[in-house]
Amino acid sequence: MSKGQVDALLGIVFGDEGKGKVVDFFTPHYDVVARFAGGPNAGHTIIFDGKKFVLRSIPSGIFDENKINIIGNGCVVAPDLFMAEARELEAAGYQLTERLHISRRAHLILPTHRVLDRAYEAAKGKSKVGTTGKGIGPTYSDKAARIGLRVGDIENDFAPKYEALKARHLQILADLGFTDFDITEEEKKWMEGVEYMRKFHLSNTEQEINRALAEGKSVLAEGAQGSLLDIDHGTYPFVSSSSTTAGGVCTGLGVAPNTIRRVYGIFKAYSTRVGSGPFPVELFDETGDTIRHIGNEYGAVTGRNRRCGWLDLVALRYAIMINGVTDLVMMKSDVLDTFETIRVCTAYRKGDEVTTEMPYDTEGWEAVYEDLPGWNTPLTDIRTEEALPQTFKDYVAYIEKATGTPITILSVGPDREATIMR
Ligand code: GDP
Ligand code: IMO
Ligand code: MG
Repeated sequence: MSKGQVDALLGIVFGDEGKGKVVDFFTPHYDVVARFAGGPNAGHTIIFDGKKFVLRSIPSGIFDENKINIIGNGCVVAPDLFMAEARELEAAGYQLTERLHISRRAHLILPTHRVLDRAYEAAKGKSKVGTTGKGIGPTYSDKAARIGLRVGDIENDFAPKYEALKARHLQILADLGFTDFDITEEEKKWMEGVEYMRKFHLSNTEQEINRALAEGKSVLAEGAQGSLLDIDHGTYPFVSSSSTTAGGVCTGLGVAPNTIRRVYGIFKAYSTRVGSGPFPVELFDETGDTIRHIGNEYGAVTGRNRRCGWLDLVALRYAIMINGVTDLVMMKSDVLDTFETIRVCTAYRKGDEVTTEMPYDTEGWEAVYEDLPGWNTPLTDIRTEEALPQTFKDYVAYIEKATGTPITILSVGPDREATIMR
């Protein structure tokens, strides 16, 4: 924690690294927790006291009643999904309206953005991105095209603005011949969601965050997705549509670069990816199925199978560089407990060419591996560094050496408690 400063917790691979768990674990040490990118494409799982929550738009600091949580300007919000998510938390006994603040500058995901998401995917044929279908791409496209609607728009004369953008979307859909949909019910819920959102502090969150920093308060910026899904630095075009990397913290919250102190880069002890796109370490064999099964690698939002593979050091080093990662956080170490040999990708090969740098086009590269011994010991109940098996410590030291970055937190199970600080 740093007083008067921002720390960031960023997924540095393809998302689903365990950001929700670690943000929840870190929250007691911060005053404010803020999401800076993405929307309901995220699914952040938090498990404590035998309860499990999956958050999409609401920051993972929400379970600490004393903290302010902010949905920043870099995010996109679907009022109907936000309402469902918030009501679930309210039903579980959490009071939200006083301490969940939403940026007026965050963009609104309309029901027709979701239809457009489906229409664009359908039109792509074989080169589908495999989006979450939440309307993320079309909403950020409208933002960039300067025709989007923002949360602040619901505060005055909203209906005509909504109707105008919807009409524009319907025209595009008609032009695409994508007309087989009915959003009547969805739209009703959506409008209900808009009314519901008025209960919350819709504020100029960039001012609020900077005021907090000036008062010496600390802010934790919660990433969504992962660095390789970043619109600029990811495996384009198989990416999401927002800035998921450290630069996105500044633009997505309105904080200056020199307010950021620590950058926690979170990754799993192996790799996963949901949706399409290059993934050189992907395992198509029984080992991949075993990792998926033990790691429960099925999407928190869509339920889709996550593609599984070994740890990719090429990707890790690249993401550490792009984000200025100061500390690594390694998750799901326990999933590899039973493997005799653990492989690590140290380079990519295409024909005679071998590279340790992330190439422009990651398509067609295969992984070059180094084999390391497994630890064959259950890690889940271990809570101290000293009690960890030496072979596992060697794996950790190997990654630290290969990346030049310390791993300061180890996660050995999904529960909040199954975390080792080093
Ligand atoms: P996020 O999107 O980065 O917040 O991650 P997700 O919630 O989508 O996916 C992470 C999954 O791994 C969730 O089901 C977590 O409950 C689970 N998880 C987190 N840390 C650990 C861990 O150390 N071990 C195991 N076995 N599961 C974990
Ligand atoms: P969290 O925050 C994993 C992937 C989708 C798809 C691509 C584009 O839980 O880590 P989109 O709907 O954003 O246009 O989809 O990005 N994707 C994620 N994969 N975790 C996520 O979020 C993701 N958010 C988007 O599967 O390949
Ligand atoms: Mg997730």
